[in-house]
Parts: sequence; C-alpha cells; structure tokens
Amino acid sequence: MSQEIMAQLEELEKEVLTCRRCGLRAGCQQVVFGEGRPGLFVIGEGPGADEDRLGRPFVGAAGQLLDKILAAGGFDRKTNAYIANVVKCRPPANRIPTAQECAACLPHLKAQLEILKPKIVLLLGATALHAVLQSPLGITRARGIWQEQDGIYFLPTFHPAALLRDPRRKVEVWQDIQNLVAKYREVVDPGHTSPFC
Ligand code: URA
Repeated sequence: MSQEIMAQLEELEKEVLTCRRCGLRAGCQQVVFGEGRPGLFVIGEGPGADEDRLGRPFVGAAGQLLDKILAAGGFDRKTNAYIANVVKCRPPANRIPTAQECAACLPHLKAQLEILKPKIVLLLGATALHAVLQSPLGITRARGIWQEQDGIYFLPTFHPAALLRDPRRKVEVWQDIQNLVAKYREVVDPGHTSPFC
C-alpha cells in the first residue's frame, strides 16, 4: 500500500478514535477501525466481543470463516482485501446497530472508501446492505446481485455468522464468491488467481 494511503488511513483512524457521534463508544472497550490492503473492500456489521477485545475486525468464529471464504477466492487481508464494519464500536450484547448508529458512523466508512477507492465491495449481511446501499430489499433477495453506485460494484452476500447458524447457505455464498472473482478479474486484475475458481 502506498505511503500516501497509509498516512491518510492513519489520519482518519486518529479522528475515528475520538468519535462520540453515537452512544456506542461509551459501552465498548475500543474502536475497531478496520484493516487490510487495497483491492477487495469487505464490509461487515460491527465488532463483536472478540473484535472489541482485540481491536481488529472479524477475528472471532465468523471472522475465521470469513478468512476461509476470502481465501477460496484468492483474497487475504494481508495482501489484497480490506475489512471494515458499518459501525466501529461494539453494540451492547451484540445487538444489531440501530439505523441512527449506522448513519452516525457511515461517514467514517465513506472516508475509508474514499481513501482506498475500491472498484469492488463485498457487503456481508443485511446491516451492510441497508446502511451502504439504502436498499429496501432483504439480504435473501438482494444477495448475488451486483449493484453499481458511483462507479463502484457492490455485491451483497450472507454474513458469515448467518452461515454458522445455517450452513446450507454456504452454497449460495460459494456462487457469490465465484461471481466476485469473475468481476474482480474483469475490472481490477485480469491476472487475479484463486485456488478454487
Ligand atoms: N461480525 C461483524 O459484522 N464484524 C466483525 O468485525 C465481527 C463479526
């Protein structure tokens, strides 16, 4: 990642660490800003207990599954995937963040997108779908269908936590990953390699 992008992300992170735009910061241990490298941009819902403890996104059970799903498509947070959440602070008892909390935090996510300028974004679950695209559709309807906004291609899919609850949904997510890899080759890197597709 270029020095300039790194510096911009560091600057933004400093700002986000002091944010009090909603009440979530008062009830969590730390802000989970996001991590990774330019390439694919992945958006989840918000930190859970493990993420709140470690200050990193997707490091619990859902995160381990996410890493496997991304690896199947040739993506990795150490090389070509950046992972962030709609809300940067853990909601109490892992409840779904409210529309107000999502709206309060959205400028931070938009600033991350501005800096990293991804061409392809993977949206994990209904919270990301609704907060980022303002889609009226449920995730079951919207998943697997590309939506283009301001030159960015967004692909909604099921959240890995939903796959842990209902593994039958893995079939659809696998289709989505194949679809994602094809689009990534088309618009980002024709030479992108992945172990399975
Ligand atoms: N679930 C999310 O949506 N984000 C995380 O960082 C972890 C679990």
